[in-house]
Amino acid sequence: MNRNEWAGRSWTLRGARTEYTVAVPAHGRWLELVAWGPHGVSDGPSPVSYDGPTPFLTSGDSAPVEYGTDAARPFAGPDLVVETATGDRRVSWDYQEATGDEHRLAVTFADPVSGLRTVVHYEIPAGTDVVRRWVELTNTGDAVLRVVRAGSAGFCVPTPHGARLSYQWGQWAQEFQLDHVDLGHGNFTVGSSQGVPGHLYVPWLAIRDQAEPVGATWGVALAWTGSWEITAERDTGGLTRVRVGRHLPDGPLDLPAGASLSLPVAVGAYSPDGLDGLARVWHQYQRQLAGERLNPRPVLYNSWEATYFSVDAENQLALARIAAELGVETFVVDDGWFVGRPDDHGGLGDWTPDPAKFPAGFDAFIAEVRALGLNFGLWVEPECVSPRSTLYAEHPDWVYAIEGRPITPIRNQYLLDLGRPEVAEFVHSTVDGLLRQHDISYLKWDFNRPRTEPGRGTGSQVPVAGRVDLDGAHVANLHRIYENLRRDHPHVVIEACAGGGARTDLAMAARSDVFWPSDNTGPLDRLAIQYGFLHANAPHLLSSWVTDAPGLFDPRPRSLAFRFVLAMAGVLGIGADIRHWSPQDRAEAATWIARYKEIREIIVHGTVHLIGGPDQSRCAVQYTAPDAASVVVLAWHTGRLDGAGLLPSRPVRLPLHGLDPVATYRGGEHRYSGSHLQAVGLPVHWTATHDAELIVLHRI
Ligand code: DGJ
Repeated sequence: MNRNEWAGRSWTLRGARTEYTVAVPAHGRWLELVAWGPHGVSDGPSPVSYDGPTPFLTSGDSAPVEYGTDAARPFAGPDLVVETATGDRRVSWDYQEATGDEHRLAVTFADPVSGLRTVVHYEIPAGTDVVRRWVELTNTGDAVLRVVRAGSAGFCVPTPHGARLSYQWGQWAQEFQLDHVDLGHGNFTVGSSQGVPGHLYVPWLAIRDQAEPVGATWGVALAWTGSWEITAERDTGGLTRVRVGRHLPDGPLDLPAGASLSLPVAVGAYSPDGLDGLARVWHQYQRQLAGERLNPRPVLYNSWEATYFSVDAENQLALARIAAELGVETFVVDDGWFVGRPDDHGGLGDWTPDPAKFPAGFDAFIAEVRALGLNFGLWVEPECVSPRSTLYAEHPDWVYAIEGRPITPIRNQYLLDLGRPEVAEFVHSTVDGLLRQHDISYLKWDFNRPRTEPGRGTGSQVPVAGRVDLDGAHVANLHRIYENLRRDHPHVVIEACAGGGARTDLAMAARSDVFWPSDNTGPLDRLAIQYGFLHANAPHLLSSWVTDAPGLFDPRPRSLAFRFVLAMAGVLGIGADIRHWSPQDRAEAATWIARYKEIREIIVHGTVHLIGGPDQSRCAVQYTAPDAASVVVLAWHTGRLDGAGLLPSRPVRLPLHGLDPVATYRGGEHRYSGSHLQAVGLPVHWTATHDAELIVLHRI
C-alpha cells in the first residue's frame, strides 16, 4: 500500500537518518509497519506489506503486525497473550486514537469485552537512529486479567533472500561471542530465564537479508535486566518478524481491575552500513543515554587478580603506590575487604570493613590511598548473602526460597529477594551508607549468581499468597536503587558487573557508567570478547584491564604492548600484580597510560569502525574524532608470531573509513591521503615482538 492509502491513519517518526512509518488498516484491529529504513523509504510501495492471496491464512498471518494478540494472529505468534477470568485468551481490540509528533507516537487500542486498554508507544530520540518501543496495559474492566505473554514489540524486517541473523552467545569467561546463523524458514530464539540477562546470550540481535552482507541491517535490543526472550521467525513470503520482551519465569502477571502495567522498552536500530554501521547506531544511542556523564572514566587499578580475597592494608597500599607512579587515577579494592571474607564461603551481607585487614581503620587506609593522589573505589555485591553471615542468621527469610525445600547455593551464596521492600531498603541503605561514610568515588557492583528458587520466603511485608512477579520486582528495585545512588552521589562512577558480563543491557547502560564484560583478560580471548561487545556497546562502557601474562584463561603469549593497546579500546585499567613488574615493564606501562590519557576523549566520543576481526589476519578499531581532524587506530596481530617480520611479506593494510579522501593525514613520519588510507589501507608491520599498534593520525 502507498502511504496515502491509509486514510490518514499512518504516522512517520524521523531520526537523524532513519524513518519508521506505521499505520492502522481500515479494519482498525492492529497497527502495522509500512516501512523502516533511511529517510524517504516510506515514499513508495511498502517493502513489508503483502496484499496477494492468502489461501488457508488469515490476513493477520501475512500482515507486518507491529504488536498483536492471538486474535490478530501475527505469523510469528502473538506479542501479548492476556487471559480473562473465564480463561478466554482471544483478546481482540480496536483502534481508538493516536497522538504524537515527528519523534513520538502513542496509539491506543481497546477491547470492550475484557476491558484491556493498550497503548503502543514509539519514540525516536532526536539525533539518533533508534526507535524505542514500549507498551502500557490498563485493565479498565472489573475482573483481574492475567498477562501470559508480555512482549514489548514485534519488529518486521524484509528478508526476501533469507535472513542472516547475528547474535552473541557465551558463558562465564567467554561472553559476547559474535556469531551468525542463516534462517531460511522457521524460528531462532535466544533468551534467559535466570532473572538476569545472563552469560549465555546478549539481549541483542541483528538482522539483514542474506543477499545484502554489508548493506541494510536492522537491530533489536531490550532494556530489561531480568529474564528475556528474543525470537526471530521468517515466513514463507520473506518477512522476518522479531518478537522481543520479557520472559515470565514466575508465571503470568496479574493485572487487577483498574491497574496498569508498563512493559520494558525494546529498541530497534537501523543502519545502511552493515553490522559495523549498526554498532555506531547503538554507540550513539548509549552515548545519549549517558548524557552529561559521558566523559572519560578514570584509569583504574583493580586488586582482584593480584590479591584475590587476601586483601589487607599493607598489600593494597603496596599496589597503590606503584599504581600511582604509573599514572593510575583510581584504586579499586575488589572482593575480600569486609568481615568474614577470607574466601568465597562467607561474609556477603556483612558489609563492614574487616578490622583485622585494616588495623589502623578503613578510613585511615583510604586516606593513605588518597594521599598518593588516587581516588578510591570499592567492590560490593549487595544482592547476595553468604549462609555463613550475620545478615543471613538474622534474616533467613530474605532470600529466594521455596518452603520445605533446600536452597540452591551457587558460589556458596544465596540471593536476596530484592523485590521485598525491606530488602531493597537494606541494599540501598547499605551501599548509600558506604558511600556516605567513606571517601569513595568508584563503585563496582557485582552479582555472582543467578536466581534459582522461584519462591518468596515467609514474613514478607508483601503477601506471599498468590503469584508474585519476583523477576519484575527485583529488576524494578535494582533500577530504582541505581537511580537513587546516581542522584545522591553524582560524582561516584558505577561499574556494573555480574561475574563478568552477565548484566549488560540497555537499562543498565542507562544507569551505570561502565560494564565489566568478562573475567577473562587473556589477550586473544579478550580480543574476541571485546570485538563482540563493541558491536552492541559503546567504548565508554567497556572496562578492560591489563593483566599478567600468561593469562588465567588464555595463555597464548602476547606482549605488554598488546595487552595495553587492547585495554585502551575502552576504559583502561590494570589488574596485574604490578608489585612483580620489572622497572622496564613499569616504565613501559607509564608510557602507555600517558598515551591513553592523550587519546581517551577520542575513544569516548569518536566514531567507531571495526576493522577485520579476531579470527582474521587483521583486527583493528578506528576511532575518528567528532571534528574528523584526528583518527586513533588500535591494531592487533592475531596470527602466529613465529617468523613475523623475518619471512618475506608485505605489511598488513588496515582499510580506514569515513575520512576526507582529498585531505592529507600525518601519522608519525608518514603522510597519506585519505583516499589511500581508505582504498589501500594504513600499513602495519608486525614482528615477533611487535604485535600491537596505537597509531594517531592528524589531518593536515
Ligand atoms: C566476579 C567479577 O567479575 C570479578 O572481577 C571479581 O570482582 C570477583 N567477582 C570477585 O568476587
